[in-house]
Amino acid sequence: MSYQEQYDYFRLAAEEALRSAVPDDVPEPLASAMRYSLMAGGKRLRPVLLLAAYNMAQPDITPALPFAAALEMVHTYSLIHDDLPAMDNDDLRRGKPTCHKVYGEGMAVLAGDGLLSLAFETMASSGHPRAFAALRELALRCGTRGMVAGQCADLTAEETGGSPELLRYIHLHKTADLLTAPVVMGMTLAGADEAQIDAGREYGRNLGVAFQIIDDILDVVGNEAVLGKHTGKDAAENKCTWVSVYGLEKARQDAALYTGLAVKSLDSWQNAGNFLKTLAQRTLMRVQ
Ligand code: IPE
Ligand code: IPE
Ligand code: MG
Ligand code: MG
Ligand code: MG
Repeated sequence: MSYQEQYDYFRLAAEEALRSAVPDDVPEPLASAMRYSLMAGGKRLRPVLLLAAYNMAQPDITPALPFAAALEMVHTYSLIHDDLPAMDNDDLRRGKPTCHKVYGEGMAVLAGDGLLSLAFETMASSGHPRAFAALRELALRCGTRGMVAGQCADLTAEETGGSPELLRYIHLHKTADLLTAPVVMGMTLAGADEAQIDAGREYGRNLGVAFQIIDDILDVVGNEAVLGKHTGKDAAENKCTWVSVYGLEKARQDAALYTGLAVKSLDSWQNAGNFLKTLAQRTLMRVQ
């Protein structure tokens, strides 16, 4: 299988799991708001990372699917809330009007809350013997010392201004934590040993920083139609980004630097690490 075929295989498996993820007895319009954002598209990077990491040690990815779905639920919740007027105030996401534009702000808050708790329900109901460790990893990475902490710093930096230290904290937590979790969870679920998981954690952190630097670059130079979200928003909202602190040129250099570190992190996995290494290199070239 080529790299792209492998990516699509993981992506489609995750999308299939997501299709039936919102239970039938969730009331309307909450269920529709949750499904709207969950099925709006997107790269499905976090579930792909989880399935690929799992697949490095286990041939059959089926037992990992509930966890892949959970990752995308948590990510989608973070986007719904990130787009609210109280946060980044965006009306376009994944090429469609944002959740609050279609369902109202109150329902968008609840759709995010609903996806977060559904993610943990889904993992806890999986019956996987290592579910608890995976669940704990995601709780730590998405919560008040993880993604939520990063979003907190992202908001306060609008008022206080940016600095290199604050910038690193923001990128590590608002983004890299949610790219590290899938790799660590996938390897943990698959029964990898501590040294292998350490390598995965290092990969996720470096990939995550590179990923957010590129997101910051694309906000300046990207194409809205391809990105599916508005550009120029970071400067307008006085965001602390890699571009605002270091400028475009150094941002490009640093994205390449962190990508190189991510690739190197997986050397101990030998050939089993090839897919994730290529994924990091492709991420550096991404336009969406
Ligand atoms: C957007 O994430 C939010 C960031 C952390 C930069 P993605 O770029 O993965 O968005 P989707 O899931 O493909 O829409
Ligand atoms: C979002 O960062 C990180 C999240 C946790 C959602 P951004 O605010 O830069 O993401 P976009 O540019 O809106 O996708
Ligand atoms: Mg934001
Ligand atoms: Mg945003
Ligand atoms: Mg952004």
